Amino acid sequence: MQVFLPDNAPFTEAQRAWLNGFVAGLLGAELAPATPGAPFPAPAPAPQGEDFPWHDPTLAIDERMKLSADRTFERRLMAAMGQLDCGQCGYLCKTYAEAIGGGAEADLGKCVPGGRVTAKKLKELLAQRALGPAAAQPAAGAAPRAAVERGYGRDAPVPASLASSTLLTVPGAEREVRHVVLELGDSSLVYEPGDSLGIWPHNNPDEVELLIAILRAKGSEAVTLPDGAVVSAREALGRECNLRMPSDSLYALLASEAKDEADRFRLSKLAEDDAQAEALGVHDVLDALLEFSSARPSIGEFVAALGRMQPRLYSIACSQKRHPREAHLTVSALRYEKNDRAYQGTGSAFLSEHLRPGRSVSVFVQRAHGFRLPADLAAQVIMVGPGTGIAPFRAFLQERTAAGAAGRNWLFFGNRRRDADFLYRAELEEFAQKGLLNRMDLAFSRDQTKKVYVQHKMLEAAQELWRWLANGAYLYVCGDAARMAGDVDRALQQIAIREGGMDAAAAKRFPQDLARAGRYQRDVY
Ligand SMILES: Cc1cc2nc3c(=O)[nH]c(=O)nc-3n(C[C@H](O)[C@H](O)[C@H](O)COP(=O)(O)OP(=O)(O)OC[C@H]3O[C@@H](n4cnc5c(N)ncnc54)[C@H](O)[C@@H]3O)c2cc1C
Ligand SMILES: NC(=O)c1ccc[n+]([C@@H]2O[C@H](COP(=O)([O-])OP(=O)(O)OC[C@H]3O[C@@H](n4cnc5c(N)ncnc54)[C@H](OP(=O)(O)O)[C@@H]3O)[C@@H](O)[C@H]2O)c1
Repeated sequence: MQVFLPDNAPFTEAQRAWLNGFVAGLLGAELAPATPGAPFPAPAPAPQGEDFPWHDPTLAIDERMKLSADRTFERRLMAAMGQLDCGQCGYLCKTYAEAIGGGAEADLGKCVPGGRVTAKKLKELLAQRALGPAAAQPAAGAAPRAAVERGYGRDAPVPASLASSTLLTVPGAEREVRHVVLELGDSSLVYEPGDSLGIWPHNNPDEVELLIAILRAKGSEAVTLPDGAVVSAREALGRECNLRMPSDSLYALLASEAKDEADRFRLSKLAEDDAQAEALGVHDVLDALLEFSSARPSIGEFVAALGRMQPRLYSIACSQKRHPREAHLTVSALRYEKNDRAYQGTGSAFLSEHLRPGRSVSVFVQRAHGFRLPADLAAQVIMVGPGTGIAPFRAFLQERTAAGAAGRNWLFFGNRRRDADFLYRAELEEFAQKGLLNRMDLAFSRDQTKKVYVQHKMLEAAQELWRWLANGAYLYVCGDAARMAGDVDRALQQIAIREGGMDAAAAKRFPQDLARAGRYQRDVY
């Protein structure tokens, strides 16, 4: 490791090691220099200008709304977003909120990570504004969005095709995870480790046929899409419509068509506020038709009343240095049961089940927002990626190998059971055997009575982990935002107390300071 402090600098050996590592990290990340002479990461200065305390994907929506309660309308809209800044909606959380608040964006259903909860909260906030004094004056319009280069945004996708889809979990495991290989063909798409691939999924074709049959339609009827394109109803339902989340317009249409008075009453209530939908057994669009059997609109009106399909993002799991014309994905197939019905996730079921080999899919590269390998090939890298969180780290390891990076690599991986869902086991073990993966700590949560998670493994290895950090290591976390990411953050704080001798307040700041130095990067969803 490069040494920045002279041997006679007034620090203990551990402090000097830490500071050298910290400065090395700063230089590697090409960020602002640390406070000279500080033995630990320079404490973050008070935020300049506006801060966004709710902009943390590990916070629950109620907490985020509380933190934004005294802010402007646009900022409260922002707090309702998924807080990932993943770009899937075509904006960042702040700019999507500003576009809605300013009236430039009417679609409240674009935030897939935020899902129903975000869509509902946005609707509620807009309804409150409509009642309030600001109703007549929406804030100044959002700046127009810049044109997107082909292949690099949701509105400019390029075709790719499915090369293969193989199981990463054993057949019959509680969850199915697949390794999906997409052929990028002549698109010349370029991506970096850490980037995600956006895909425009198609709906389950069986569900589409069922909807057409329930509406006693043929499916060949011509329907007009919001952009003016005329396509068949089957095509519109297959590719353009959101069949997971019933829209207010759908409830309003069904209310106007319902022959049964009780149906009409319940549907008009749902059109105003769909909070009771789940209690009525209505989880998706098909449920709405099944529950309200007296409401059968024409297929054209039905299609026009549905929300729009949204793209889904998947971390790219390979390095383009090794696979120049492919993008590999690690897809967990979302399947769950409710109301005696089996449901599938749209994007994950499309990639893992409905897309046939050789068939085309529209894709785009979604550039990572601060999730990048260090430029310094000698820097050490610690990766924490349970479940599908492993995906970008397979790309990192391939990239570091191809680039001949000398820095050491340490992986924390976890999943439910070693025998069922140790994703990429053979490849990871080979990386370890070849000395490219210097350390791998595994947490299989359900292989024993007491849950063991990646953060428990981090705490067990606290001394060594602290030593790596003191030597300038970069720490990356990928996977579940709701539970894992916060717990890993808290484990890091505990390690700072235990191994770094920090008090609670300094330890709380420690991950933030490390992040500011570009050495703690998270891609959580
Ligand atoms: C930057 C980024 C990277 C990502 N990388 C990956 C990756 O590498 N691999 C991966 O698999 N995923 C990844 N995801 C998640 C992925 O984008 C999708 O969100 C995921 O596949 C689910 O989408 P879907 O279309 O299958 O499900 P959807 O059709 O979107 O359905 C999801 C919705 O179903 C509902 N739901 C889910 N479970 C239940 C339940 N038990 N009961 C009731 N309702 C439920 C919820 O409303 C939820 O919002 C990533 C996301 C982001 C933002
Ligand atoms: N939008 C969606 O609907 C959707 C669909 C797929 C994935 N995702 C997101 O992607 C994440 C990754 O999904 P995945 O299927 O790969 O795996 P996952 O659900 O994150 O599970 C991976 C491992 O993490 C463990 N785990 C659970 N809670 C944890 C915690 N607090 N700290 C650390 N580890 C914990 C799990 O253990 P146990 O299960 O035994 O507790 C399991 O062993 C999901 O959690 C979810 O947030 C979302």
